[in-house]
Amino acid sequence: MKHSILNMMAAAVLLPAVAFGAEKQKLEIVSDNLKLTLMVGEDGRLYQLGFGDASADIAIPDKELPREMEFVPAYGNGVITEPAIQATHTDGNTSTDLRYVGYRTDTVAPGITHTVISLKDPAYRFFVDVNVKCYENSGMMEMWNDIRHDERGGKVTLYRYASASPLLNSDQYWLTQFNGRYKREATLEEERLGQGMKVLDSKLGIRATQYRIPSFILAYGHPADEREGEVFAGSLRWSGSYQLSFDKDWNNRLRVLSGINPLGSHINLERGEEFATPAMLYVYSKNGKGDTSRRFHRWANQYAVRDAARPRPVLLNNWEATHCDFDEERLVGLFDGAKEVGAELFLLDDGWFGNGEYSRDDDKHGLGDWEISTKKLPRGLSYLAKEASKRKVGFGIWLEPEMVSPKSALYEQHPEWIITQQKREPILGRHQEILDLTRPEVQQFEWEVIDNTLGPNPGVSYVKWDCNRYVTQPGSGYLPAQDQSHLMVDYNKALYRLMDRFATAYPDVTAMLCAGGGGRADYGAMPYFHSFWPSDNTDPLGRIKIQWGFGHFFPGSTMAAHVTRMGKRHLKLAIDVALSGTFGIDLALDKATPEERRQLAQGVKLYKDEIRDLVMFGELYRLVSPYENPMASMSYVSKDKKEGVVYIYQIEDGGVPQVRLDGLDPKRRYTVREVGLPDKMSPRFLTATYTGQELMERGLDNPLSSQFDSAVLRVSAL
Ligand code: DGJ
Repeated sequence: MKHSILNMMAAAVLLPAVAFGAEKQKLEIVSDNLKLTLMVGEDGRLYQLGFGDASADIAIPDKELPREMEFVPAYGNGVITEPAIQATHTDGNTSTDLRYVGYRTDTVAPGITHTVISLKDPAYRFFVDVNVKCYENSGMMEMWNDIRHDERGGKVTLYRYASASPLLNSDQYWLTQFNGRYKREATLEEERLGQGMKVLDSKLGIRATQYRIPSFILAYGHPADEREGEVFAGSLRWSGSYQLSFDKDWNNRLRVLSGINPLGSHINLERGEEFATPAMLYVYSKNGKGDTSRRFHRWANQYAVRDAARPRPVLLNNWEATHCDFDEERLVGLFDGAKEVGAELFLLDDGWFGNGEYSRDDDKHGLGDWEISTKKLPRGLSYLAKEASKRKVGFGIWLEPEMVSPKSALYEQHPEWIITQQKREPILGRHQEILDLTRPEVQQFEWEVIDNTLGPNPGVSYVKWDCNRYVTQPGSGYLPAQDQSHLMVDYNKALYRLMDRFATAYPDVTAMLCAGGGGRADYGAMPYFHSFWPSDNTDPLGRIKIQWGFGHFFPGSTMAAHVTRMGKRHLKLAIDVALSGTFGIDLALDKATPEERRQLAQGVKLYKDEIRDLVMFGELYRLVSPYENPMASMSYVSKDKKEGVVYIYQIEDGGVPQVRLDGLDPKRRYTVREVGLPDKMSPRFLTATYTGQELMERGLDNPLSSQFDSAVLRVSAL
């Protein structure tokens, strides 16, 4: 049997179609430590031989491979497992068969290669291009499919269109999902997969999550460990409904299908039109999930988060302090507080717009009427921005451009603009409706909401973009009857165009992504934002676990973490938890005691002087999990291993006597000192020096054991 090997790191080549009965060819695509090994069979189909450890060399098998090992299984002509592609052709044929045509690999930027493997149905002019982008800095492999046809006689209907469908191979698979609900986002739940299909999905249409983020961890052999074992981490770059399916077959192979949730979203594809699926992200490690998280963060900071290196300002937000109940005087008073504690920006939340009967005094009125409230803020946004600036504090604003309150002038003028189903009573969510972004007038309107707010007010240097409900009636008054199923896909594509226009037109405006808490924490939207709001739960006890969950995929620099009064915890615990993300404050500073304000000011100073750079640029190490212990501990260590910050949070009574650090240089000596101590509080940890090896093997003695206690420790190489 003749074999050949094509290494995808090679220069760009486009190979001719493989004739049936031709020799087998092996294709290898390598992203640092992760390798995808494919094979073109003698039948011209594309099979997968391996996905995992880049150092493993997988030989071309002599025997024929079963159809379950096709890399992009297509429905209807021999595939009996879950398909990645399902299409009905223009003549009504419901089957598809994909054969290899050729491939090319290009270096698209230093350290990034892009491979395209072209497949075609031999009986139809129906094409699938498999895309694999590799990022050398992190081992990230990004995969998606471009689908098009050139069939006569109408449209091809796509019923399934997965972004990626690799096969995994182990004796045991342990799946961690990050589920939850409002105020309980990103909660870890791990299970051993049995036979059959396990589906993690969302059907919310315009936000990927409320109940589960579009990301997962898959460990081989045993539950995922921080430091050991083979682990994959995956995340879908899509902010709408998604589906991640894990299909374990009779040979114990696991097919992982990921992509847009096809439920109610079949696509009628015009001749010549291309449908690009969103990308699926994969990293892999032989050293546990701590390493997969750091790989994700490294990749994100370089390629997927807006201005990742720009220091995130310390915010004073007013939502928890005032809700919609404020006026100019109260806000200016809060600016004074912001200056006093050292905050760098004041973020004016919901409630600044709407007039007359539609004044935004509660969440039932005014969305859509984006004129400033003359009752609350008679001198306008520019006045506020100037007052903030006099105190050397920046000024930002909350927007929710995609929504409308039925009690608004906008709704009176354009009731037809909302997403709803004909002949059904419109269903409200948080008393509001969603504007149909597939409609060009709505696209223009939403752009003007942003542009008319920021354009005339150059003093506004920050935007929090919110989205407080999801779709329950996916119908469009704009799309034709036969294309109603395009609504959710077209909405999200239009949303990304809008976000992109915003980011391009206002490059100096910093932006936070919010969706009623962490409803849009995904890498589809993150390129347009600097940070996201993980949850409306700011009780530090709740936040410890929520930030722990998101941190599996998102770097600390993207996670907004504010000190509030929620849960009525000690201020120290609230500050210490916020110090592990993008630090901010959201409490009525004008009602805080002088001691509390001093403590907050000390927290802000510590963050700016000693911690922000570590959160922004350091590497995350999760040390003690709050899921298995009465406490949590994590750290950031600078890339040169010279500086670190360690956080310890007691969730319940009970101790872990030693906390083993990680990521240090074993041979260096480090000083450990406790920081973030309010006045009159003595350090509980001795200021002492240790070798990195001692800190990582024996660990740091931990004197804490009472619920709500917390500590922040700075580690510095001598
Ligand atoms: C939900 C967000 O998560 C909150 O922080 C706040 O901005 C409110 N929306 C305002 O309506």
